Amino acid sequence: MPRTVFVNGAFLPFEQACLPVMERGFLFADGIYEVSAVVNGRLVDNEAHLARLDRSLGEIRIPNPYSAEEWVELEEEMIRRNELAEGLVYMQVTRGVAERDFAFPKDAKPTVVVFTQAKTIVNHPGAAKGVGVITVPDLRWKRRDIKSVGLLAQVLAKQAAAEAGVAEAWMVEDGFVTEGGSSTAFIATRGGRIVTRPLSTAILPGITRLSVMRLARETGVTLEERPFTVDEAHDAAEAFYTSASSFVMPAVTIDGRPVGEGTPGPLTRRLRELYLDMAGATAPVA
Ligand code: PDD
Repeated sequence: MPRTVFVNGAFLPFEQACLPVMERGFLFADGIYEVSAVVNGRLVDNEAHLARLDRSLGEIRIPNPYSAEEWVELEEEMIRRNELAEGLVYMQVTRGVAERDFAFPKDAKPTVVVFTQAKTIVNHPGAAKGVGVITVPDLRWKRRDIKSVGLLAQVLAKQAAAEAGVAEAWMVEDGFVTEGGSSTAFIATRGGRIVTRPLSTAILPGITRLSVMRLARETGVTLEERPFTVDEAHDAAEAFYTSASSFVMPAVTIDGRPVGEGTPGPLTRRLRELYLDMAGATAPVA
């Protein structure tokens, strides 16, 4: 099946999808993106992802080219055309194409790109055994609540993780974990409480985070929204991270040290199961 990419209103064969050199996303990272998961051909938590896309656009003053209904229609069309059963829908909107000049161009039209990626999320091998994370300095700008396509700090963080042979990097500022390179960081204390950083401009407001917090509350788990230190993470009973591309991923080592027993803990496994149920997955990970 040939891969189809959406560019500015056209559904194109992958090889023919191109953008001009003066595209501001390319020159300035002047744009935002969003990623929704697909399980069994259906979008997961999509309404909230589209709300965040709209918010990110508003924060950098790019008009949203589509209504939420039009976005959903476009995403579903892309899922159909690419026969996507499980994976991701990636959406990017940038300020458009104009001669290189920093200030906003007068008549540029936002560039819209959508593509899909097939990916095993439900039965991801890391989910059963758990994965490793390392901690790295958070080198990012000060508006991390905007899902900007300027991701160089995350590229470097995640490359450091790859070179260390682990799955994710947790970024650290002033001794506190901000979040993962592409995920939200959580720990569980020995007392069975779940801790994650409160929303602010220091982190992206994770959509999976929000659902996992709701699911945790519904099952009577006590939640603490507060920053936690690297030392606390090292001493935690459990650790995990959440994102559209991993759902709930157990972190069983941090900086090479085992977390708790060094295996996915009961709270993490429970929350992953609950999220998989919510996502309509038919084959939850054991
Ligand atoms: N990343 N924090 C950062 C810095 C992220 O890039 C992401 C998502 C998250 C988790 O957000 P959500 O639960 O809404 O996916 C947190 C996506 C998946 C990516 O860049 O591919």
